[in-house]
Amino acid sequence: MRILTTGLTINAAFLQEIKEDNQELRLLFGQVSGHLCKISERLLYRRELFELVVRLRDQLAMHFALEEAFGYFNDAIDTAPHLSEKAEDLKADHGRLFVEVCRICDEAEAVLHAAGSMSDIAAVADLFDAFASRFHDHEARENQLILEAFDDDIGCGD
Ligand SMILES: [Fe+2]
Repeated sequence: MRILTTGLTINAAFLQEIKEDNQELRLLFGQVSGHLCKISERLLYRRELFELVVRLRDQLAMHFALEEAFGYFNDAIDTAPHLSEKAEDLKADHGRLFVEVCRICDEAEAVLHAAGSMSDIAAVADLFDAFASRFHDHEARENQLILEAFDDDIGCGD
């Protein structure tokens, strides 16, 4: 059921397109993850690790900016409240996730400049694993919202 109100909603088609086009982001997640898995090479390649997480941070900033510019919008006329609540929550995730990836960059930089130890790099790996898990959960919930928004449109016949 829809009611007349104002609230945040999504442009499901644009949001889906942004997700399908984010190959660079997927590649960077894989590269950082693969890099951190090579335990014996972690210290040797810490500069590469730092550069990769900085690229991941920048790509993520662009991804969130695109989603917020084209995927989310305030609908002043016709907003489904159950979608609006989820949209608000998911959009707010962007800021929290970005703070997390910035912290990973800071830690990777500290390891680089302090010629860090294996335990320091293991801490970066733990931060990254937790961050990656939260990011992928966010993406899954956003994809679910896209499906619900499409269903909602079909259900209302518009
Ligand atoms: Fe998002």
